[in-house]
Amino acid sequence: MATLLFPFATILFLIFPFLQSACATSSINQLPRSNHRQTTFSVTDYGAVGDGKRYDTRHIQAAIEACSEAGGGRVRFPAGEYLTATIYLRSGVVLEIEKGARVLGGTRLMDYPSECGRWYVVLAENVTDVGITGGGVIDGQGLEFVEKMDDRKNVMVSWNRTGACYGDECRPRLVGFLGCRNVAVWDVRLLEPAYWCLHIVRCVNTSIHDVSIYGDFDTPNNDGIDIEDSNNTVITRCEINTGDDAICPKTYTGPLYNLTVTNCWIRTKSSAIKLGSASWFDFKGLVFDNITIADSHRGLGLQIRDGGNVSGITFSNINISTRYYDPSWWGRAEPIYVTTCPRDSTAKAGSISDLLFVNISANSENGVFLSGSKGGLLSNLKFINVNLTYRRWTNYQDGLVDYRPGCWGLVNHSTAGIIMEHIEGLEIENVNMRWYGNLSSGWDNPLDFRPSTVNDISLLSFHSGLYKQ
Ligand SMILES: *[C@@H]1O[C@H](CO)[C@@H](O)[C@H](O)[C@H]1NC(C)=O
Ligand SMILES: *[C@@H]1O[C@H](CO)[C@@H](O)[C@H](O)[C@H]1NC(C)=O
Ligand SMILES: *[C@@H]1O[C@H](CO)[C@@H](O)[C@H](O)[C@H]1NC(C)=O
Ligand SMILES: *[C@@H]1O[C@H](CO)[C@@H](O)[C@H](O)[C@H]1NC(C)=O
Ligand SMILES: *[C@@H]1O[C@H](CO)[C@@H](O)[C@H](O)[C@H]1NC(C)=O
Ligand SMILES: *[C@@H]1O[C@H](CO)[C@@H](O)[C@H](O)[C@H]1NC(C)=O
Ligand SMILES: *[C@@H]1O[C@H](CO)[C@@H](O)[C@H](O)[C@H]1NC(C)=O
Ligand SMILES: *[C@@H]1O[C@H](CO)[C@@H](O)[C@H](O)[C@H]1NC(C)=O
Ligand SMILES: *[C@@H]1O[C@H](CO)[C@@H](O)[C@H](O)[C@H]1NC(C)=O
Ligand SMILES: *[C@@H]1O[C@H](CO)[C@@H](O)[C@H](O)[C@H]1NC(C)=O
Ligand SMILES: *[C@@H]1O[C@H](CO)[C@@H](O)[C@H](O)[C@H]1NC(C)=O
Ligand SMILES: *[C@@H]1O[C@H](CO)[C@@H](O)[C@H](O)[C@H]1NC(C)=O
Repeated sequence: MATLLFPFATILFLIFPFLQSACATSSINQLPRSNHRQTTFSVTDYGAVGDGKRYDTRHIQAAIEACSEAGGGRVRFPAGEYLTATIYLRSGVVLEIEKGARVLGGTRLMDYPSECGRWYVVLAENVTDVGITGGGVIDGQGLEFVEKMDDRKNVMVSWNRTGACYGDECRPRLVGFLGCRNVAVWDVRLLEPAYWCLHIVRCVNTSIHDVSIYGDFDTPNNDGIDIEDSNNTVITRCEINTGDDAICPKTYTGPLYNLTVTNCWIRTKSSAIKLGSASWFDFKGLVFDNITIADSHRGLGLQIRDGGNVSGITFSNINISTRYYDPSWWGRAEPIYVTTCPRDSTAKAGSISDLLFVNISANSENGVFLSGSKGGLLSNLKFINVNLTYRRWTNYQDGLVDYRPGCWGLVNHSTAGIIMEHIEGLEIENVNMRWYGNLSSGWDNPLDFRPSTVNDISLLSFHSGLYKQ
């Protein structure tokens, strides 16, 4: 544990010297700031009414500009409801949304800029030393974007109808940091995004802690935290309860290095942790430690589809509970799911190497799935101290292997404790599989080597048997 936490501590203290006393005192008055005297600008002094009905956009933006012109500081939102179109953060500015204050994202297309890539309620672009804190709420009013409620999966409004963008994921995100340095998102609640919630893109040195994210459980694409093409990101003490992927590193335009996630609680109708599926570049040096995953459709997932290479990833001290939900959501109750199957016939195969799973305990309705591909082997995987308890408690169909997105899609295949294909090097040490109830009910096969390349598998102290209280 000590050695695993070393990178976390190192990143925290090297990158965020201003955090050191904050950690000790849990004071939040040392967020990024310029060298100038710390100044606070209240949005109400700039005309914001905070009645939740009239748009306060101009007033909020005026406070941000004044703060930035003064060399940076805080923009304070006292208790109240601030309805707003997109607001833009400037360098050196920290939004301090106080307890009792709620920033409400507008629900009209005209509330957002013309390029859909900039549709956020709060947007920071190419700026440094910025943040959000204060204990209050940013609310995307996501339910206003539901066209038809459905407890399998809601049907959402799409602004593609006006030609504003294409595809079916055409809604605004909640908070975006694009191309930023020294970002802090501390002690805020992010609620009901219409689409993705917190989006970190091409950033360096980001700290996210004590953030709670709540998104409607039936709403598609309301991801928790999406981290793209970014280096040195630390996420800790977060609680994420949402419909779609909770913590989702991706690579579109460049690699992703050094992401550390610790002490979090997650529930989702899709993957709790998901690398990919966008994976055009490499992922290196990721640590996930002390995480609880409850009632999710998939626990720890790597869906590498686009040719990126993944290496040096550790998952430690994680409790997982996974169950089936409607199959329109990706995920088949797998506690651990690792694939490199190319997205389609034109995609290159990526590879995954040096994965460590240590001190993992799972209760799940399906087994572990480890599937490389011909050109994209899985190599050097380790499972150490892993307890897998298998039990069915929902009535959804089992016996399907899920290669989505793309690849082979959903494929009929009997269930097993661990399914393996295209692997070079797998060490299983001190792994216990326990089966609840009837062993002859059709999914009692502990290890399933699919007819493909599976080399250098070692089992040390591996057990499979009936669950005993
Ligand atoms: C795994 O758990 C054991 C026993 O609780 C602990 O001693 C060890 O440090 C843990 N390993 C890691 C990598 O956290
Ligand atoms: C990130 O933080 C590290 C450590 O404080 C620092 O050396 C580096 O310059 C920072 N990177 C950027 C892009 O600001
Ligand atoms: C931010 O930087 C990117 C990359 O250099 C550039 O494409 C984009 O236009 C910039 N955005 C703004 C608002 O300056
Ligand atoms: C618009 O979104 C809907 C789903 O909300 C989708 O079915 C449709 O194909 C999309 N149309 C276009 C032109 O992207
Ligand atoms: C992250 O680090 C890698 C490796 O040094 C570099 O190629 C990449 O440009 C960095 N990303 C950003 C956003 O600075
Ligand atoms: C990632 O972290 C390691 C060790 O803390 C550091 O040496 C390396 O420079 C970091 N990589 C990037 C791209 O920042
Ligand atoms: C693990 O995370 C929980 C919060 O989810 C926290 O209460 C607990 O102290 C953490 N444990 C360790 C050993 O850091
Ligand atoms: C992944 O590794 C392979 C084999 O070394 C290499 O050909 C490919 O370019 C790498 N992918 C990326 C995105 O760098
Ligand atoms: C996992 O469960 C065990 C046993 O109930 C408990 O000791 C441990 O703290 C839990 N760990 C996490 C990360 O929730
Ligand atoms: C696995 O189960 C054994 C026996 O119940 C227990 O001693 C051990 O702590 C468990 N390990 C984990 C990682 O939960
Ligand atoms: C999968 O099995 C179901 C019945 O269990 C059957 O209806 C379906 O056609 C099968 N699909 C394929 C692709 O074989
Ligand atoms: C176990 O399953 C088999 C086959 O489905 C069935 O014949 C048998 O009665 C079951 N036994 C128990 C104890 O449920």
